[in-house]
Amino acid sequence: MADVRLFPIAASAQASRTDHLLWLLTTFSAVIAGLVVTLIVVFGVRYRHNAVVNRGTLPLPLRHEIELGWTLTIGFLAIIIFLWSSVQMATGLKPPAQAMQIHVLAKQWMWKVDHPEGAREINSVHVPRGRPVMLQLESRDVIHSFFVPALRIKQDVVPGRTLRLWFTANKSGTFKLLCAEFCGTGHSMMTGQIVVMEPDDFTAWLTAHPADSDLASRGRSLFTRVGCAGCHLSGGKRAPDLADIYGRKVLLTDGRTVQADERYLRDSILRPKSEIVAGYEPIMPSFASILDDEQTTAVVAYLKSLSAQDDSRKTDAAK
Ligand code: CUA
Repeated sequence: MADVRLFPIAASAQASRTDHLLWLLTTFSAVIAGLVVTLIVVFGVRYRHNAVVNRGTLPLPLRHEIELGWTLTIGFLAIIIFLWSSVQMATGLKPPAQAMQIHVLAKQWMWKVDHPEGAREINSVHVPRGRPVMLQLESRDVIHSFFVPALRIKQDVVPGRTLRLWFTANKSGTFKLLCAEFCGTGHSMMTGQIVVMEPDDFTAWLTAHPADSDLASRGRSLFTRVGCAGCHLSGGKRAPDLADIYGRKVLLTDGRTVQADERYLRDSILRPKSEIVAGYEPIMPSFASILDDEQTTAVVAYLKSLSAQDDSRKTDAAK
């Protein structure tokens, strides 16, 4: 028989906080709905047709007190709920600095996962218990939505953007991963699993799943192999020098300034004509047909690693 439960398993700190908020909202709604229904019944009986009761207006002070008290109470409760959920939302947006980063690429109809150490997987994400994990979500085609009920996390994955989502799993086990945005005929099959492992088991898992090398090193050899290095490491004459690009502000020919984040780097590789750096000719060809998904991710990881040393400083400066 299917496992029917009121709430899915709560496997992250955020999950219990979300549940508390949901219980609070449900309780408030139940109390208010109960009060309204009770009054409907009481008044319905008391003031029924032909009943002999006083139908005049309430004395003035009583009328004011009830009105004021009711409005203030509801307003106060609404502010509490607003503050509570805002604090939660803000916490959910800001990953801790030491969070482990995992790259997730959504495409019709699968989830491709790259670990910085080199391990790759499809439709499953292995993570250690008790350690903050930050996912970088990108889509290759249409809008998908990364949804893990047990962790109470859900994030739309929008093409052309790199979205972040973080969590700390506090229960080991295997949990469902779903796509929660209708993304085509294979949408319902776009499922997977989050495998939360004990930290030691996770280390063992990573060791047992080495890729040829880690993501950034794969990117470094690609950078030379497909010819990026020819223009981009020539002292900035034909093309911008990329030694310190990640996190920097970049001035474009159309006068805009953009932040060189994962989204920008990826777009610059796949659609180089879309954002031309001021002072340069649009001579770079698109690498969309040369680099596949993983290879693009690897090159972006390599570019990020070039300025990883002072990453924290830049993140602070970008705020
Ligand atoms: Cu991807 Cu629905």
